[in-house]
Amino acid sequence: MIPDLKGFIKPGSVEDALVRRLDFKRLPVHVAVIMDGNGRWAKRRNLPRVEGHRAGSKSVRAVVEASARLGIKVLSLYAFSKENWKRPRNEVALLWSLLEDYLKKEDRILVKNDIRLRVIGQKEGIPASVRRQIDRVEALTADNTRMTCCLALNYGGRSEIVDGVRRLLADPKTDPAALDEDSFGDALYTAGLPDPDLLIRTSGELRVSNFLLWQIAYAEIWVTPELWPDFRARHLLEAFIDYQKRERRFGAVSPGGGAGSAKP
Ligand code: IPE
Ligand code: IPE
Ligand code: MG
Repeated sequence: MIPDLKGFIKPGSVEDALVRRLDFKRLPVHVAVIMDGNGRWAKRRNLPRVEGHRAGSKSVRAVVEASARLGIKVLSLYAFSKENWKRPRNEVALLWSLLEDYLKKEDRILVKNDIRLRVIGQKEGIPASVRRQIDRVEALTADNTRMTCCLALNYGGRSEIVDGVRRLLADPKTDPAALDEDSFGDALYTAGLPDPDLLIRTSGELRVSNFLLWQIAYAEIWVTPELWPDFRARHLLEAFIDYQKRERRFGAVSPGGGAGSAKP
């Protein structure tokens, strides 16, 4: 077993069996997760929706630590979309207060695991008390290198693209003729990060809900019926095993000219 997993994964456990099926040389570098299903999880238990969000924060903790220990370099988590403001006021308020608590409490885990926090989204629209925590934890973890955890807050894929265009237009150094996909990518919130290799969505919904629209052009998509509060390291491992069975062609033909090759 790789040293980082010692003491984290119990020998003989389900997770241990899954880890043995993984090829650590072919792990996804960037994993993006649409954490969905908190409300349904609560509803099934006759609990208020906010209890689903509270339970979901435990999954965040488990997935962040498991990803870092497994050797994932970038983990992007969709926590609050720009469209989520349409929800009832009390749910929105509770979501932000849970996020604030999360940042207050989880800083130690990020530091302990050498994880850098980077928030993506429109920071101006985020409540001031949450923004203060973001600034604090981003500064605290700025030099950490094992993994970057991108937390998408007040995030929308389309507005990220529009913000990028705005930034380029406002910069007198922008040369339209020199603009290409790489330089445009540098104008996005995710500048400097590789594109996601794997996009996971929980709760069975088959849509991307405005997440990382530009960056997921060639991401492999894995959807599980599991609701986010039930999601744990073992599901992450199942996603990685499935990912490793896929053939990523990026528009080309498969080298062997087999099942994946283009028909004449
Ligand atoms: C995901 O769970 C959390 C956020 C969007 C903040 P939901 O709250 O969307 O849960 P469902 O989809 O209603 O079950
Ligand atoms: C996507 O989930 C947003 C987050 C996970 C933060 P939603 O529950 O908001 O998405 P839709 O409404 O089902 O598309
Ligand atoms: Mg949802």
